[in-house]
Amino acid sequence: MIRLPEHAVSASLSPTAAPSSDAVALVAEDMRQVDAVIRRRLASNVALIDQIANYIISAGGKRIRPMLVLLFSGALGFAGRERFELAATVEFIHTATLLHDDVVDESALRRGRRTANSLFGNAASVLVGDFVYSRAFQMMVSAGRMRILEVLADATNVIAEGEVLQLMNMHDPDLSVDDYLRVIRFKTAKLFEASARLGAVLAEADAATEEACAAYGRSLGTAFQLVDDLLDYEGATEQLGKNVGDDLREGKPTLPLLIAMERGTAAQRSLVRGAIEHGEVARLADVVQIVRETGALAATREAARAEADKACRTLELLPPTIHRAALLDLSIRSVERSS
Ligand code: IPE
Ligand code: IPE
Ligand code: MG
Ligand code: MG
Repeated sequence: MIRLPEHAVSASLSPTAAPSSDAVALVAEDMRQVDAVIRRRLASNVALIDQIANYIISAGGKRIRPMLVLLFSGALGFAGRERFELAATVEFIHTATLLHDDVVDESALRRGRRTANSLFGNAASVLVGDFVYSRAFQMMVSAGRMRILEVLADATNVIAEGEVLQLMNMHDPDLSVDDYLRVIRFKTAKLFEASARLGAVLAEADAATEEACAAYGRSLGTAFQLVDDLLDYEGATEQLGKNVGDDLREGKPTLPLLIAMERGTAAQRSLVRGAIEHGEVARLADVVQIVRETGALAATREAARAEADKACRTLELLPPTIHRAALLDLSIRSVERSS
């Protein structure tokens, strides 16, 4: 029996009861500063590095991880310029993982453009990914605080473990939900957690507050990846800027498929098993029908909502600021998104 996380929201902070604030609008001005740091810090005299790094960064992206640094530091009253540098640093770590991830996943589309690997080749993508990673480490060092280095070094290490764990799980239809959740906590939620935690570290918050920020990031990141995995079946390529069906082509046993196998008829189960084992993207239409019919997509969205609710509850430890309201808004958007 598949157990999904408990669904409960405290009355004071439920997404519907709380005052709402637009997270993107609140940090728009700060984000321009972060973009300036990103452009300045990305520069290299090596032409191919400059070209590829700018190619992926200029395509944009949602910039949700830097937003967490800004929102948490703001929620805790920190207004120093170091926040822009750290926000750019987490976006660099994210960008490096994307450059590597698209090679590993053999993906062809990212942020509405051809991926760097499909345009410049795998070797160039991996090497420029290494450049972006190590640039992030140079930036952390220049922050001059061992705790910041520790948080980001640990996060980067765990992300790599998550990606390797996922590689080991490919084509395995018998993967447990717990093992699936472990992968997404490592590969995705860890950087959300680190980003949120850094806001508290910058503000020199007490240990309990720092842990609440980290817990929010962990839950939001889990919700975010659950939705990413469901959009690979439910979403539209143009809207996502990524090709739907990539996960099936690779035989990734994600939650929509795990639930479909548990709830489906024998025939449905056998089709999904075969598609995971052989990476049968040709069966995508059949699999989409099965994840819909069995309610697996709805259940995955519900699991994401439960994680987002958990994230909201952790905010109760923070003072009731406009930034806290924006973090509530962000958790709702992250779950209800279709791109
Ligand atoms: C993509 O992250 C990788 C996942 C963890 C799902 P985002 O969806 O945040 O990617 P961008 O930065 O907005 O393109
Ligand atoms: C996110 O997983 C991987 C990283 C943490 C880099 P996915 O492989 O699902 O991300 P997308 O769908 O390619 O963006
Ligand atoms: Mg991928
Ligand atoms: Mg994905």
